[in-house]
Amino acid sequence: MASEPKALNDLFLDTLKDIYYAEKQILKALPKMAKAATAPELKEAFEKHRDETETHVERLTEVFEIIGKAPRGKTCDAILGIIEEGKSIIEEFEGTPALDAGLLAAAQAVEHYEIARYGTLKSWAKQLGMNDAAKLLDQTLAEETKTDQTLSQLGETKVNMKAQAKAA
Ligand SMILES: [Fe+2]
Ligand SMILES: [Fe+2]
Repeated sequence: MASEPKALNDLFLDTLKDIYYAEKQILKALPKMAKAATAPELKEAFEKHRDETETHVERLTEVFEIIGKAPRGKTCDAILGIIEEGKSIIEEFEGTPALDAGLLAAAQAVEHYEIARYGTLKSWAKQLGMNDAAKLLDQTLAEETKTDQTLSQLGETKVNMKAQAKAA
């Protein structure tokens, strides 16, 4: 029997598995980043987003349920690479005034990856006529976007200025 050609719903499932895997990795990485951060505002932002990330995983399991599939991750090399870069920053800049700026940059790379994935998934869900799934994906997309903005603000106010001031 010839296999059916792959379609958008296959791509949707594949990408859903990708972000499910990524969120679980992020859930493990955020406490380490919070622990490494020195600015209390940055620590707090990482801790808050860790809690939100738990909800992201839950929402994804709901989306799996909507399409009648068991929640399963698929190794996402992109997020592993981004998290690995974050680890290198901690190792290389620990104890320096630039550490927080580096952590912030690493965290924004994570958020931008998530924003890209959720944006795509949301639009595919709509095209596939899955409005409930689109709504769930949009809720998470909004939280990722807000986190990215919070991090940008922290960069412009507290974190980067401190890195510069101490380096001068
Ligand atoms: Fe997330
Ligand atoms: Fe996130």
